[in-house]
Amino acid sequence: MKTEHKGGLVVLKLGGSAITIKEKEMTPNGKVIERLCKEIAEAKPEKLLMVHGGGSFGHPLAKRYRIMEGFHEKSQFLGFAKTHHAMTVLNQLIVKSLLDNGVPAIGIAPSSFIITKKGRIESFDLNVLTEMLKMNFTPVLYGDAVLDSENGFAILSGDQLVSFLAVKLEAERIIIGVDVDGLFTADPKMDDSAELIEEVSPSELEKMLLKIGRTEAVDVTGGMFGKMNELLKAAKHGIPILIVNALKPNKIYKALRGERVVGTLIWKG
Ligand code: IPE
Repeated sequence: MKTEHKGGLVVLKLGGSAITIKEKEMTPNGKVIERLCKEIAEAKPEKLLMVHGGGSFGHPLAKRYRIMEGFHEKSQFLGFAKTHHAMTVLNQLIVKSLLDNGVPAIGIAPSSFIITKKGRIESFDLNVLTEMLKMNFTPVLYGDAVLDSENGFAILSGDQLVSFLAVKLEAERIIIGVDVDGLFTADPKMDDSAELIEEVSPSELEKMLLKIGRTEAVDVTGGMFGKMNELLKAAKHGIPILIVNALKPNKIYKALRGERVVGTLIWKG
């Protein structure tokens, strides 16, 4: 599966499960972060926007203070601030590693320019981001605790952010780095008969998601299908999305270079 390398904007998401140790709160996967930042520096597409997930930094705090449920009680304010802070710590680890490898990375907090309504992006200002990309900086954003016009606050996932920004900034392609080889017919961690889906069109993917929704299966494929719902929005806009295993060396490098790599390509074809 080869996606063309034309020099347009590439949006790269690094999943929280790849860059953090899931079982240990606030623990980065330092080795993986370092290797990935090196690969990114070596492949460095001219225009790159990065988004990363929360893993063991954002999720435990967000859950503890029930940030995704919106404002209920005053104690959540401290939880909201702690969740955001945890994400900035992870963000700075990634930014520092990119800088050490010569990538002009700038950490940007989504909560500083986005407000959601019932968890969906409602108001935003993309001026600074647009100008930074024109100057070939590499903005590094993340899933964040954000203000919400209806519920007080919400969790904005990295995946919603990826789809939204890729469409608004007219990205050429999206690359998603996760801890499995791509999208499978079943959970590859639980089911030996699970097969990798190498290529799927947005309409086929939508049909698959509807079927999963009907059987009310939760996380049957390691949470991948939930993420797919968000990414489908960008895929429907005609933006090719390649999902690859960021834990395996050189996958992200090759994907950034537009080279053939094992994974799932979501594309109209
Ligand atoms: C979650 O972002 C951010 C917070 C919990 C604050 P994501 O939902 O994109 O993170 P991962 O990739 O699933 O860990």
